[in-house]
Amino acid sequence: MNQITPMLPVDREPTIRVIPMPKDSNAAGDVFGGWIMSQVDLAGSVPAVAHAKGRVVTVAVNEFIFKEPVFVGDLCSFYADVDKVGRTSMRVRVEVYAQRRLQPDNVAKVTEAYITYVAVDEHRNPRPVEPLK
Ligand SMILES: CC(C)(COP(=O)(O)OP(=O)(O)OC[C@H]1O[C@@H](n2cnc3c(N)ncnc32)[C@H](O)[C@@H]1OP(=O)(O)O)[C@@H](O)C(=O)NCCC(=O)NCCS
Repeated sequence: MNQITPMLPVDREPTIRVIPMPKDSNAAGDVFGGWIMSQVDLAGSVPAVAHAKGRVVTVAVNEFIFKEPVFVGDLCSFYADVDKVGRTSMRVRVEVYAQRRLQPDNVAKVTEAYITYVAVDEHRNPRPVEPLK
């Protein structure tokens, strides 16, 4: 169901914000899930790179839920935080909100995902990261 109540997180900044264009839509005219997945991967890499202080690679998509459709022209905000850290890996929770096209007060939480990144060195070998504070 569409949420009419504004509900963008007030205590966090999105790691990316982007507006899907017609080229990002599927055959039915809604935004293609693969486009959303690639934006989530980019958004999640931001806190992972910050935590790892360097290069990371995506090793796994642990969970990915499309809660609501995204439409061409929606302003999509991606919020991402590292929520679990191993020796070399970091799991990032990504939440996506869409402000419906030209309706900043009409906000829906559209996607939630958990992605795992691994910090790598210049030879692409895993390298240790700091524990989560
Ligand atoms: C990521 C990669 C470097 C890991 O190398 P590896 O030899 O398997 O290393 P390890 O077995 O030591 O695993 C490294 C970490 O990844 C974690 N990991 C591996 N597979 C995983 C999976 N399916 N789900 C979650 N975590 C996983 C391990 O648990 C380990 O975490 P820890 O050190 O915090 O305990 C290697 O698999 C790789 O290069 N993959 C391709 C990455 C890529 O091209 N991504 C797409 C573009 S960015």
